[in-house]
Amino acid sequence: MKISVIGCGYLGAVHASAMAELGHDVIGIDVDADKIARLAEGKPPFFEPGLPEILTSATASGRLRFSTDIADAAGSQVHFVAVGTPQKQGSHAADLTYVDAAIDSLMPYLSPGDLVAGKSTVPVGTAARLAKLITESGNGASLVWNPEFLREGFAVQDTITPDRLVYGVPAGEAGEHAVRVLNEVYASAIAAETPLVITDYATAELVKVSANAFLATKISFINAMAEIAEVTGADVSQLAEAIGYDPRIGRRFLGAGVGFGGGCLPKDIRAFTARAEELGAGESVAFLKEVDAINLRRRKRVIDLTVAALGGQPFGKKVAVLGLSFKPHSDDVRDSPALDVAVQLRGLGADVVATDPQAIENARSRHPQLTYTESLEDALRDADVVVHVTEWPEYRQLDPVWAASLVRVPSVIDGRNSYDSAAWRAAGWTYKGLGKP
Ligand code: UGA
Repeated sequence: MKISVIGCGYLGAVHASAMAELGHDVIGIDVDADKIARLAEGKPPFFEPGLPEILTSATASGRLRFSTDIADAAGSQVHFVAVGTPQKQGSHAADLTYVDAAIDSLMPYLSPGDLVAGKSTVPVGTAARLAKLITESGNGASLVWNPEFLREGFAVQDTITPDRLVYGVPAGEAGEHAVRVLNEVYASAIAAETPLVITDYATAELVKVSANAFLATKISFINAMAEIAEVTGADVSQLAEAIGYDPRIGRRFLGAGVGFGGGCLPKDIRAFTARAEELGAGESVAFLKEVDAINLRRRKRVIDLTVAALGGQPFGKKVAVLGLSFKPHSDDVRDSPALDVAVQLRGLGADVVATDPQAIENARSRHPQLTYTESLEDALRDADVVVHVTEWPEYRQLDPVWAASLVRVPSVIDGRNSYDSAAWRAAGWTYKGLGKP
């Protein structure tokens, strides 16, 4: 099929490449000329495992092209809208400027039968509003809301073999047409019997935000248990293991630690709360404010433990911060707990030296005041305390004996609860996890 993808960020660049990998003829469009130039050369503007390979093969085959000109979307049968919906300045609501601009600019190039497929995460009610605009323009196109559930770090796999497909479609023939077209786009997933939910716009929009709200709640639940563990001497990791054996609960997303970040979970729960309040249903998701608050308290807890490890005197002490991205296998530092901890410790006067396998460039452009090193060894050398905040494999597998030979004081704050505390203590370390004795 001929497909356009409008917006080539973390979501759109992966979607465009994956659709081309599946055999479609794809044009990726973005207003950022630098980004488009890099993508056209087969170079992803961000780190995502597996993306360079499919981007290179798809651009070389001619099935994937990039452009800054929205007019190049003309002739595509499906137009995916994958632009960002960041948090609005000075508010918790989602900023829909980019979605509105994408639809506006696309409008003159739509032809009868074209399908506009919304992928961006939007407040419930947006799709109905956009559908009305498209219908009123009389170009004969229709809208479907088709949320995306990819995880950064696994984005290629999640796009090519999704765990479910959700189509929010209009009623009647337009809806049936939308289902037929999307089933062709996702022919391989449909053939693999991927679960498919066909629903209305509002449900499709809510599926996306409620899934992220649930995941955020699960993480904050276990982090709340970590707080209780801290005042009772219990061990939250063992607690998570024990409750996780109940298949109704499940062990995944019960990793207590410095909490969640990224470009999705934090802003999505805030936008959801803001939208529910607009609709007069704020009480129904008021608990998400608590989820947010628990999450942010965990960052403070890591900072407090670090300051305590430094005897209450962080000024001029060397703090090795292991990790800057919001999670491993990503260079994304948007709302990253790791970067936040590094910046706040620096603000307290500590001599922070931060390292990360992929995210230094992004972290430096936001916070040039921090000292960065690509070398784990340099970060550890002569450190007064080590703070582990992003569980990259190389940090998770850090040898405590080797690390102890480098630091000045063998003191570690395990902000991801991923170290074997007994092994670290045996190697001479003072070990502090979150919610652990
Ligand atoms: C999240 C959702 O998991 C995806 O399903 C969704 O499609 C995506 O947002 C989106 O809306 O686009 P992602 O932001 O890539 O994906 O990251 P997650 O894997 O959900 O991790 C989020 C944060 O939670 C990370 O900072 C991670 O370190 C933290 N986390 C995760 C924990 O603190 N504990 C856990 O047990 C799991």
